[in-house]
Amino acid sequence: MSTRIAVVGAGWWSTTVHLPALRADQGIDVVAVVDSAPRRCELAVKQFGIPAWYSSVDDLLAAETIDGIIIATPHHTHAPLVEKCLAAGVNVLVEKPLAMTAEEAWRVVAAERAGSARVVVGQTYQFAACARAVRVAVREQIGDLVCINAEFSSTTDFLFASEGATPEEVDQPGRPHASTYSDPATGGGQGYTQLSHLLGGVVWATGRQAIEVSAFMENQTYRVDVVDALAFRLDGGALGVASSTGTTPQGVPVRHTVRFHGSEGVVEWDMLAGSFWVFRRGGAISRVENPVDRAAYGASRVAVEFARIIEGAADNPAPADVAAASIALIEAAYAASRTGARIAVPQGDLRS
Ligand SMILES: NC(=O)c1ccc[n+]([C@@H]2O[C@H](COP(=O)([O-])OP(=O)(O)OC[C@H]3O[C@@H](n4cnc5c(N)ncnc54)[C@H](O)[C@@H]3O)[C@@H](O)[C@H]2O)c1
Repeated sequence: MSTRIAVVGAGWWSTTVHLPALRADQGIDVVAVVDSAPRRCELAVKQFGIPAWYSSVDDLLAAETIDGIIIATPHHTHAPLVEKCLAAGVNVLVEKPLAMTAEEAWRVVAAERAGSARVVVGQTYQFAACARAVRVAVREQIGDLVCINAEFSSTTDFLFASEGATPEEVDQPGRPHASTYSDPATGGGQGYTQLSHLLGGVVWATGRQAIEVSAFMENQTYRVDVVDALAFRLDGGALGVASSTGTTPQGVPVRHTVRFHGSEGVVEWDMLAGSFWVFRRGGAISRVENPVDRAAYGASRVAVEFARIIEGAADNPAPADVAAASIALIEAAYAASRTGARIAVPQGDLRS
């Protein structure tokens, strides 16, 4: 029997990545698409041959029996939509960021733990072939964690430039909705958009939460942050720095890397290449490459992997508690940059 999936948000990411990947998989039945803009639903239904569309998750849940829902909507809508799905007992893949605040994010974790439906977060880099091995290397091969250097550069400033959605854009689901990334109220900016990937990876690998953070963020000419620099302390005492800029010019290589420094060695994870090095005291070096038959940046694997997780055929590489701990750090970093103060990061029940 096919796994029945519905997609919420018929925008750029869904129509260019998730829906093509789902439609290419014989074991998956895309039963419906949902978007608050009916025109986007009509276009997606036509393009991907989907039998039904709805303009709200409530209407979807009332009308269809579904195994999993994929949420790819603006950031501020994520946590409330996930909670609706969990209340209905439906598994969810929610795009990053899981939520806007620590309080929302840990509430989602608690709701998931209280029921049987699972939450998978669209932390693309954690779906890489090497991600589990990175985690083992960081936790078991380099001694006590001492320091983290994390960098995420991207060409995302164009996303932050828009001033509001125009009617023409509603007719172009292949382009992001203008307000999705450019409005502080909807969770726009480099922190929620990109640091969420980087810091999700840090929490995933270490199993540690940040306990305090200082931060600088620059908006340049935008209404949201485009350049972010954080210094933080993890539980257990390790210190970390993370920088992220959305200003990399087109054609210039971007970097998505984390170096984990331990008392006995260093792990260097190239998130974009899907590979990592382990350097150990005494000179031992090992390297894990991305398999040649698998895309290093596996964005189109995420939705299909979600179906496999629902079927019980795969483990969840992007659990909600990891995402929640990274959101807590991001929210605190925004507060630190606004106030100039060092901010305590609220702690949650991180088990992954
Ligand atoms: N994992 C990745 O690497 C990656 C890459 C790109 C985007 N994303 C994420 O995907 C998500 C969507 O981004 P996008 O670029 O496709 O945005 P988009 O603006 O193109 O699409 C969002 C769609 O959601 C619809 N929408 C808004 N509120 C809704 C609601 N309450 N119910 C139903 N539909 C609603 C909008 O009408 C719009 O069509 C974001 O979370 C973004 O960060 C992830």
